[in-house]
Amino acid sequence: MIKHSTSLLLAACLLAGNALAELRQFEMTIDELDLEVAPGFTTKVWAFNGQVPGPLLHVQEGDEVEVTVHNLTSLNHSIHWHGVYQTKSWRSDGVPDVTQLGIEPGDSYTYRFVADRVGSLWYHCHVNVSEHVDLRGMWGPLVVRPKKPSALEKRVTKEAILMFSGWNSEVASEYGTGGHPAEVVDYFSINGKSFPLNQPLRVKEGDVVRLRIYAPSIPVAFHPHGHDMLVTHKDGLPLPAPYGADVLAMSPGERYDVIIEMNNPGIWMTHDHIEHHVTNAGKHHTGSMLVIEYEGIEADDFYHWKHIDYKPDFYMSESLAKPFGLHSNEAFNAFDPALERRPQRAAHDH
Ligand code: CU
Ligand code: CU
Ligand code: CU
Repeated sequence: MIKHSTSLLLAACLLAGNALAELRQFEMTIDELDLEVAPGFTTKVWAFNGQVPGPLLHVQEGDEVEVTVHNLTSLNHSIHWHGVYQTKSWRSDGVPDVTQLGIEPGDSYTYRFVADRVGSLWYHCHVNVSEHVDLRGMWGPLVVRPKKPSALEKRVTKEAILMFSGWNSEVASEYGTGGHPAEVVDYFSINGKSFPLNQPLRVKEGDVVRLRIYAPSIPVAFHPHGHDMLVTHKDGLPLPAPYGADVLAMSPGERYDVIIEMNNPGIWMTHDHIEHHVTNAGKHHTGSMLVIEYEGIEADDFYHWKHIDYKPDFYMSESLAKPFGLHSNEAFNAFDPALERRPQRAAHDH
């Protein structure tokens, strides 16, 4: 009898497991576009689905993922799925001349893998990475949600994704150049925009905010004022003993998940503490900084973002709360210079 009910239970679990694993099919283009990073500074990018960062891919543990990539640019690319184990699918690992040939201009390629690793993962080009990843915006978030979230994860009321990167104005206007170690990276951004073209992160007192912090291309020393962070995940892996910090040092490629208890109402600067990362071409008070704004706090008139046109999904908080899928984000759109479409706020702040 006991044996019988155990096997029934097993069968039920297997059925439930299968019902939960879905096939998720996505299409991505790679386009040759210009990205406005800072007021007066645009750079040529190869943008996934026309945006930098690339669209958020949000799936559940165990899902089968199929991504067809169309290369609409003038040079070769590939996509590496950073963090995915690629169990029995190593040919979808995206490394040119190792697992595939680079995707030629005009060609398409389909990657197929199971989301066999949970957490804050990402995807990026694996061709000439010191240009394509470091300077042309070829990166985006892949978040694999665990089937059984931990007690800590269940407390979270709001999530946000922060992707830090740097740019080189000297090679910004010419594809196929850049990425030499002697070059200077002189512009800095979060989610592809420098302060003040990025956005504040709005929270409520009592929120438990989970930041998924990414360093796709440059080192970062992330520091929020007025709050400690509980560091809970490293590269998507849960830490056996989460620890507190107020500065988080990150090397390129790393991701950390941190939880911040929003228990100190105010308007708080939050920034990269590598000091020249809060400059653009040497100009101070720009670059990789954002502000955490509590609801209900009256800002002073000198506050730069007092009357901002607020985009609540700039840190992908709304997208992360939606059903699984591919989530595009208008705030990250690059533009086609041939169409003479002006960058959204080009002449701002001069
Ligand atoms: Cu590429
Ligand atoms: Cu990687
Ligand atoms: Cu500071």
